[in-house]
Amino acid sequence: MKEVMSKLPLFVANWKMYKNGEEVDSFFDHLFSCHQRLPFEQMMIAPPYLWIERAQRKASVKSVRIGAQNSSSYEEGAYTGEISAKMLASAGCSFSLVGHSERRAIFHETLEQIHLKLSLLISHSITPILCVGESKEERKDQREKEIIQNQLLSAIEGLGPHKLENLIIAYEPVWSIGTGELPDPSLISDMHQFCKHILKGQLGHHADRIQVLYGGSVKADNVQSLLREKDVDGVLVGGASLSPEQFIDIILKGTQL
Ligand code: PGA
Repeated sequence: MKEVMSKLPLFVANWKMYKNGEEVDSFFDHLFSCHQRLPFEQMMIAPPYLWIERAQRKASVKSVRIGAQNSSSYEEGAYTGEISAKMLASAGCSFSLVGHSERRAIFHETLEQIHLKLSLLISHSITPILCVGESKEERKDQREKEIIQNQLLSAIEGLGPHKLENLIIAYEPVWSIGTGELPDPSLISDMHQFCKHILKGQLGHHADRIQVLYGGSVKADNVQSLLREKDVDGVLVGGASLSPEQFIDIILKGTQL
């Protein structure tokens, strides 16, 4: 709960399908030997499932939160290869991404599945980071707000403000992920305000606590301009979070505004 109450910017790492066990260990060794003061309580790292407990053991000495990149839309059962929210909770996950655009596009996750995943995460007290974002085509057709509204509303449908009190949103335009193409910061701010407006319409003043992060080609040299924008409450970092040096640089720059 502290992350939404503090409103300090959050720095979330999404490692996607990268790193072996030794690389996970060395990332944390590097991070914790940094001689500058890092705001560990503002850091959240999502390694691949296999390394969650390993990362959890490493990170437990500090207050870095460890989470997952995905979870099943089923509670439990004969679903070979799936990982449930209940398992994530017992592995010590404090958060999980849900609805990342790579899951939506490559694995054809539907709005309904994303809603089920979000609901299960909440019922197991795992903070969901709901990722939303429009494609290049959708933006070209000026449908970005309609798309974002639909992604937000379908995901939280029927879940009241109390269940959603820990929700975090990540606005990630699909065309900016992994491309180096950063939208104009004022455009990002506009989309963040729009997300907050939609949430407020559903949740009233409870929406004030929800942090909206930006994701897509975040680097040390653009993080300050992003975090200076109104309603950008943190960043979700993919590629640049794999290197401890780069992630540290992003955090140091992002906290020196
Ligand atoms: P990127 O990825 O930082 O490599 O663009 C962001 C994400 O996929 O969350």
